[in-house]
Amino acid sequence: MKQFTYVIEHMEPEITGWPELEYKNMLKHVKLHLSHLDPNLKNNMPESLKGAQVSTDSVSEWPKEVQQRVLLLDPASPHELSPEDAENYDYLLFGGILGDDPPQDRTKHLGPKQMTTDTAVLVSQRVLEHGIKLSDLEFVDFPEIPLGKKQTVELPFRYLVENGKPKLPDGLLDLLRKQNDEPLF
Ligand SMILES: C[S@@+](CC[C@H](N)C(=O)[O-])C[C@H]1O[C@@H](n2cnc3c(N)ncnc32)[C@H](O)[C@@H]1O
Repeated sequence: MKQFTYVIEHMEPEITGWPELEYKNMLKHVKLHLSHLDPNLKNNMPESLKGAQVSTDSVSEWPKEVQQRVLLLDPASPHELSPEDAENYDYLLFGGILGDDPPQDRTKHLGPKQMTTDTAVLVSQRVLEHGIKLSDLEFVDFPEIPLGKKQTVELPFRYLVENGKPKLPDGLLDLLRKQNDEPLF
């Protein structure tokens, strides 16, 4: 089975909190590459992310022949991702921050709703590495998550459903409960 490299252009000087949990979740399942890292961050990666490939350059600086094999996952793309796309690409890029480079004709969408980045990674893996069509995957939109006895929070994204529940990164519920008193978004 072909394996892809899942590339995230990281835009912040640090990796903590929710993004760290999402990256850990990705690392459990896919070959992860974090690009565009601050040099200081690259040399001081959180212990939990030591398994990821890291680089300071942006994908827009990669050689043109490698960029030919990069697919950008972009909710605004006119084309839906399908298992047949697997042979044309080696790298999947998440983040939607590159403008025209790679050019627009190498973008695909994963349906009409915005997913968290780790959900988008897992969904792409199911389609391209496992050959499962998007329409055969089960999703939940804007799940409501209990925080305490009475309080809930609605997460404004689409998630995969696993065992009847939204598939959230390990540790996210604890993080949300801790942040209960602070604004979440
Ligand atoms: C939560 S979104 C980040 C959105 C970012 N704040 C922005 O405004 O561009 C995370 C990334 O997952 C991917 N993604 C999420 N939902 C998607 C969808 N329905 N189709 C394709 N890619 C999607 C995209 O690469 C997107 O940039």
